[in-house]
Amino acid sequence: DLPPQVRIHEVGPRDGLQNEKAVVPAEVKAEFIHRLAAAGLGTIEATSFVHPKWVPQLADAERLYPLLADLPQEVRLPVLVPNERGLDRALELGAREVAVFASATESFARANLNRTVDEALAMFEPVVCRARDEGLTVRGYLSMCFGDPWEGPVPVAQVVRVCRALDAMGCAELSLGDTIGVATPGHVTRLLSALHEAGLLASGLAVHFHDTYGQALANTLAALQAGVTTVDASAGGLGGCPYAQSATGNLATEDLVWMLHGLGIETGVDLGRLSATSVWMAEWLGRPSPSRTVRALTGT
Ligand code: HMG
Ligand code: MG
Repeated sequence: DLPPQVRIHEVGPRDGLQNEKAVVPAEVKAEFIHRLAAAGLGTIEATSFVHPKWVPQLADAERLYPLLADLPQEVRLPVLVPNERGLDRALELGAREVAVFASATESFARANLNRTVDEALAMFEPVVCRARDEGLTVRGYLSMCFGDPWEGPVPVAQVVRVCRALDAMGCAELSLGDTIGVATPGHVTRLLSALHEAGLLASGLAVHFHDTYGQALANTLAALQAGVTTVDASAGGLGGCPYAQSATGNLATEDLVWMLHGLGIETGVDLGRLSATSVWMAEWLGRPSPSRTVRALTGT
């Protein structure tokens, strides 16, 4: 059975723009986020409070976040924080939702966080604890849940172990990342059923697919059939990851919305307004959106 409604966790301004060569000015990012909210997206990951040398594209977080203050209260604006320094910066600006980001593999933990998997978990523990004490909602990302560019296919048990650790810390939601876009639907079903057996229910999970091999929508459908109702996507298919060479853009939000609305599943998103926003952003970045739905709807 499919759910009547899906919550889209929009990651374009963060996962999308962090991987663009061009550094987009804070004012343009703010307009992007306002347009996404006006198109009906209720959760928009705004930026990251990471080391500015690691992700220069998001080094303007302090400038950007205050430009979002006029958005309606009900629009959720989660931000990424890797450590206590990141949490301090986010709290200073009044962020209400944060996300930590772990890895299922040692290679990516090293490349992305300069830590082993367990050292990274130890770094997140006080962050999650303090964020919850402050009344914040905390999401836990887990990267490389299916395949890793250095290690190949990732054993399900390895993913389950790190998910349990993030869950035990008190993350309200876990997002399962296919960072390099190699997952296929059978693998998604197997992972979700192993997590279910470990007591991690689909209601507390989100899926985060990159579309490298064109499987992101099929994978999403497999996840919906397993009970997942939160799906990450990036407007216009922006995105990738600077520390995972072979990663391309996230599942495009427009492609996701086209499929969900076709299935009779509500999202609250106005597809016309959203596509127009992605065309505007693509013009800004100087290259067409890779989303088939954006191109079909706008003739670009
Ligand atoms: P490190 O070099 O080990 O940092 O990096 P450190 O803890 O040793 O500190 C070194 C210096 O950095 C210190 O300054 C700190 O204050 C400073 P110093 O005392 O030497 O002058 N520093 C900071 N400054 C500002 N903000 C901070 C911060 N932290 C330390 N938060 C670190 C460790 C985690 C900081 C670094 O590796 C980092 O920033 N990594 C972020 C990488 C990243 O953002 N990747 C992309 C997001 S993950 C992703 O895209 C995947 C996802 O989409 C899901 C999927 O698709 O799989 C979520
Ligand atoms: Mg990602």
